[in-house]
Amino acid sequence: QRAVMDRTAVVKVGAAASASVCVLVGGVALAQYIVTKKKRAGKKTKIIEMMPQFEKPTVHMRDPERVEQIICGLIKGGASKLQIITDFDMTISKFAVNGKRCPTCHNVIDNCKLVTEEGRQKLLQLKHKYYPIEIDPHLSMEEKFPFMVEWYFKSHSILVEQRLEKDKLPEVVRESDVALREGFEQFFDRLHQHNVPVFIFSAGLGDVLEEIISQAGVYHSNIKVVSNFMDFDDSGVIKGFKGELIHVYNKHDGALRSTEYFKQLRDNSNIILLGDSMGDLSMADGVPNVEHILKIGFLNDKVEERLDNYMDSYDIVLVKDETLEVPNAILQKVL
Ligand code: TMP
Ligand code: MG
Repeated sequence: QRAVMDRTAVVKVGAAASASVCVLVGGVALAQYIVTKKKRAGKKTKIIEMMPQFEKPTVHMRDPERVEQIICGLIKGGASKLQIITDFDMTISKFAVNGKRCPTCHNVIDNCKLVTEEGRQKLLQLKHKYYPIEIDPHLSMEEKFPFMVEWYFKSHSILVEQRLEKDKLPEVVRESDVALREGFEQFFDRLHQHNVPVFIFSAGLGDVLEEIISQAGVYHSNIKVVSNFMDFDDSGVIKGFKGELIHVYNKHDGALRSTEYFKQLRDNSNIILLGDSMGDLSMADGVPNVEHILKIGFLNDKVEERLDNYMDSYDIVLVKDETLEVPNAILQKVL
């Protein structure tokens, strides 16, 4: 009898406590709502406000009204006018999982068992020297340019020295920690369903990149990859690289190099550009006939130092956001 009474008492106290927590949570939510309403008062951002993904604290925009206008333009044009131009490493692929860095296409090779210990050390040293330069907010792209050429030249020479074999790449990718951003399936599948051309423009390694998206099951027929492709000899051993080098800061002449591709897409005058580096901003330079372009930037590293620059240049900046939720929300409206 007593035990039963005690239990009822406990339940009653519990109910009272949870009721007050509810009131508290409700109050906080209401206050937050009023604050955001106030901030937005007088601003005409209807479509953005319809997308809860934009409420995430990872989303930063200098000018939400401008973003609103561009998205309106994209919606009007629909699937038939759209094309995607995207970077790969740290844009389509993840920067980190649980605080642990994920590999770039190059790092997939750096860390694989085909590379000798000495080779790995050399590649690691190069990364320690040149990656800080790549992301240094105090150097201009022009100042970084020669260092990037140096990095690629040295790193690619080591890969050739290592006599990598083409046949081994699928296994190397399978055994790597590379990961694509959350929501990548919806992203690529929806674009494929609606026949939207996707130009993946990467200063990574094309052979590795293609293997990654194939294994992920999203290398659909609407995708074109422009990147650094290895050149193999008759026995399938790397002997060099094909074509002109693409590095992080010479992406401005990408469209010029793929003239035929972009000529065929003359009517796809609406562009969504995705990148993670300041160099990625120029990926659509030289594309003929651009009507609306929405630039979405992932800011993964050195956030405090770089946020201002990124917000000046990218329409939407996603800070430490390992997902494609925002791009997917926009595509859902446009397609
Ligand atoms: P992305 O254009 O697809 O982002 O690929 C370029 C990235 O690859 C860039 O962030 C620098 C990185 N990289 C390495 O991680 N290791 C290397 O050895 C080189 C040359 C580049
Ligand atoms: Mg990148």
